[in-house]
Amino acid sequence: MKAVTIITGASSGLGREFALQLARRAASNPPPAGQTREIWLLARRKELLEGLEGEIRAIPGAPEPRSFPSNLSGKEGLAAFTGILASENSSAGEGLRIETLVNNAGFGTYGPFADTDLARQLDMIDLNVYALTGICHAALPFLGKGSRIINVASLASFAPLGNFAVYGATKAYVLSFSLALAAELADSGVFVSALCPGPVDTEFAAVASNGARKKVVDGKSPRAVVAHCLRQADRGRRIALMAPKWKIKAFLSRFVGRYAFARHTYLHEKRPSAPLQG
Ligand SMILES: NC(=O)c1ccc[n+]([C@@H]2O[C@H](COP(=O)([O-])OP(=O)(O)OC[C@H]3O[C@@H](n4cnc5c(N)ncnc54)[C@H](OP(=O)(O)O)[C@@H]3O)[C@@H](O)[C@H]2O)c1
Repeated sequence: MKAVTIITGASSGLGREFALQLARRAASNPPPAGQTREIWLLARRKELLEGLEGEIRAIPGAPEPRSFPSNLSGKEGLAAFTGILASENSSAGEGLRIETLVNNAGFGTYGPFADTDLARQLDMIDLNVYALTGICHAALPFLGKGSRIINVASLASFAPLGNFAVYGATKAYVLSFSLALAAELADSGVFVSALCPGPVDTEFAAVASNGARKKVVDGKSPRAVVAHCLRQADRGRRIALMAPKWKIKAFLSRFVGRYAFARHTYLHEKRPSAPLQG
């Protein structure tokens, strides 16, 4: 039996950190006799994935890292993912099992809906929603008792946000879908959880603003956020919200009208964005 951990969006930020932390955890917990372990790294930037492979190989006892450079967005992205699973399954004579799937690849766009390139916003739905949903479905036959899915949602999942309208809606979907999937898979012993971070220090802001904002403002360290998420999953918690102020915001969002929340963020939380290059 070949047991695999799959991380989408592993080339930077939270995904890279999931890969390193899951590799270290696996290294300190050797597989049963007759089982091999691999950690699959998916994202578009091949050279970053290969660099990460090298870092994982340097961890004694870590699973074998493998890069699958791919654009996961939309129909073509999902076909690329299902193609990888099918060909790896047919070459793994002893059978393939997914131990952990981290659906992390995603991005946002800053600015009002009307001022933001439509193709980019639709691509965001194709990655954050379409691909994540399709990847969960494609993974189902390879999941069993003890398997885990971690879907990366956001603090933005809890209320509609002006200047972040489509992104917030995609992450509301991820949280809602993940909890429903968790309920449906609970009897089979497959655990599903959602990570809901507030600001984290990754490439997110640079991507969302087309370079107008270099860093996520007041971002937490990806290392701490991922460690917290994995500990919460170990404890059977289905939503990981690390910082006390993130928990308070998520809690208060139940009491503030949804329109009021969106209007407030539209008026008072400006998010810079440069024109799209190319
Ligand atoms: N940072 C925050 O403040 C924050 C807060 C809440 C939630 N999140 C969520 O956390 C997740 C990870 O983001 P991050 O903060 O770590 O940002 P990041 O550093 O920009 O990482 C995003 C990852 O997604 C990958 N990706 C983007 N488009 C892709 C595509 N079409 N196909 C395959 N992979 C793709 C990127 O790799 P390539 O560019 O190499 O393809 C990269 O590895 C996202 O779902 C994001 O929405 C972030």
